[in-house]
Amino acid sequence: MKFGLIGYGLWGPHHANALVKTPGIDLVAIAAASENSAQRARKDHPNCAVSVGYRDLLARGDVQAVVIVTQNHTHREIACAALEAGKDVLLEKPMSTTVADCDAIIAAWRKSGRMLTIGHEFRLSEQWGRIKGIVESGTLGEPMHALVSLFRFPYRQGSGGWRYAPERVGSWILEEPVHFFDQLLWYFEKWGLPDRVRSFANAKPGRGPGMLDNLTTVLRWPSGLYATVNQTLAGFEHHHVMEIVGREGSIRSWWSGAMDRTLHPTFEFKIQKKGETQASLVKIERSGELFELEDQARRVLEAFTKRQTVVSPEEGRRAVAICLAAERSAVEDREIELKL
Ligand SMILES: NC(=O)c1ccc[n+]([C@@H]2O[C@H](COP(=O)([O-])OP(=O)(O)OC[C@H]3O[C@@H](n4cnc5c(N)ncnc54)[C@H](OP(=O)(O)O)[C@@H]3O)[C@@H](O)[C@H]2O)c1
Repeated sequence: MKFGLIGYGLWGPHHANALVKTPGIDLVAIAAASENSAQRARKDHPNCAVSVGYRDLLARGDVQAVVIVTQNHTHREIACAALEAGKDVLLEKPMSTTVADCDAIIAAWRKSGRMLTIGHEFRLSEQWGRIKGIVESGTLGEPMHALVSLFRFPYRQGSGGWRYAPERVGSWILEEPVHFFDQLLWYFEKWGLPDRVRSFANAKPGRGPGMLDNLTTVLRWPSGLYATVNQTLAGFEHHHVMEIVGREGSIRSWWSGAMDRTLHPTFEFKIQKKGETQASLVKIERSGELFELEDQARRVLEAFTKRQTVVSPEEGRRAVAICLAAERSAVEDREIELKL
């Protein structure tokens, strides 16, 4: 399948490498916004047609699918244009910066009859993805609580400093926590959707709206299940923990790296199953964002070929809606009812 890549900043080149490595994918075109980034793409991928702006790429009849890795506030415009041009689309998370923009993308997707999937690649991770099967199998009993914790260095600026511009990033909750909300909803799909959210947050002096250095969010399900998402961007390195506690068993899994995109992280996965008195280690071969991108490229190719979706647009929209409600809860200092 012939693919095009739109966006060649910091994350785009990792997507390009994953696409090139995937048997069955032919990366034929790349688009960036500036001549500078376009030149980098030409040097890294001399066999690709590289353009400034995404319109030339979308006009190519041979490009069947596109991967969109541009700033959050551009997702609506570029995703709608790609769908209208008849391309299948892998759109990076967050789906968009507002629920209205997600709805516009969903309308364009329905009209187009093309495939659209959102880049929540943690679902495809050997470490984080396997949790869903364990939870659903009943090995832990009825789920009671989940904790996701991320302690990390501050976000990167992004091209033109967009991550520190509230109107372009949308909210810092749409950057990392959006992944965690997506994971939690996916793990606990069998138990329905959460119906309430409560957050506490604060930020260093001088931050704009939505730029929260510390965030704690509690999601509550009607069954009594609840999940805590805890993130600090005022830490160092990248340390990620996931705990799931059921009535009869539990999981504790963690991942640590000097940086988020390291190829040499440390990680562990332990489980204490129903009827056992001790936890045991689960073997994980590899884990990390860069490996997940490769798994995602393989999975997306398979899904587009079979006309299936990986992460549906409705699920992408839900994760955005939770992020925005979580932010509103912190700002208004109250619990918010979720209507997902
Ligand atoms: N799933 C994940 O784990 C993950 C990880 C990282 C990032 N992301 C997401 O990926 C997206 C990009 O993040 P990033 O860190 O790569 O940002 P970045 O470094 O700022 O890169 C954004 C790229 O988009 C290009 N661009 C903007 N408008 C364009 C247009 N109209 N046509 C063609 N190219 C255009 C920019 O071009 P110039 O360079 O020429 O300005 C830049 O190359 C964000 O939505 C982010 O949330 C997801």
